[in-house]
Amino acid sequence: MSTSPYARVLFVGPDLARGSFAELFQRELSALRGAAALADIVDTTEGYAGLWQRVRDCIAAGELPLLLVDLDPNASSPYLDWLRSELQAIGEGVADRLFVASSDAGQLDAVCALIEQPERHLGCVEVPALPAAHAWSCIPQHHYRVLLCNGPRCIRRGALPLWKTLRERLKAAGRLECEGGVHLTRTQCQFPCDQGPTLSVYPAGTWYRVSSEDDVQRLVQEQFVEGREVVELIMRQM
Ligand code: FES
Repeated sequence: MSTSPYARVLFVGPDLARGSFAELFQRELSALRGAAALADIVDTTEGYAGLWQRVRDCIAAGELPLLLVDLDPNASSPYLDWLRSELQAIGEGVADRLFVASSDAGQLDAVCALIEQPERHLGCVEVPALPAAHAWSCIPQHHYRVLLCNGPRCIRRGALPLWKTLRERLKAAGRLECEGGVHLTRTQCQFPCDQGPTLSVYPAGTWYRVSSEDDVQRLVQEQFVEGREVVELIMRQM
């Protein structure tokens, strides 16, 4: 039986309304919390205006305390600080009844358990101030811009787990999102699908096919640590 003290729980994040992940998420959420919970999903793929309005509506309807379960896979501490400070401003006068929790949409059992664990919820008063000049204000000193295709054909060829592995390996090598390191972005189709999974590296503009964890490891070590092209992985002009 739920012991949640909340009058309303919103499930907030990108890709929760449409697509295969959304379909699975909605199916599981309905099974775990009932079909009515589907009305509490707020998709942020197109931005946050819809969320702010939904929060205002909850406040106006007296649906407090309100918990936002943030399911953004890229959530970070500055992001959560920002989210809480926005809620603090929207909820002036009732901000002490607004709360945020962060979780992974793919672990819905854990998400539902988290709702019952207030010790893991963050309030929206006394939110750490955002620094006047933080990383979002500056052009980063990354040396490489790397575009990993997550288009439909590259995904079928295994691009999604490669993205995770690539991030982990870059981080372990001290090359992820740091001065002289790599800024990694997932993209839609980059066009040479038949040679994918496609990964392009700038500023050189080198096109790679990266199809295994061994390829990822070579790329990280040879291209991003030692600074030389991995000739065997470069795509051919067809
Ligand atoms: S789907 Fe990746 S290059 Fe087309």
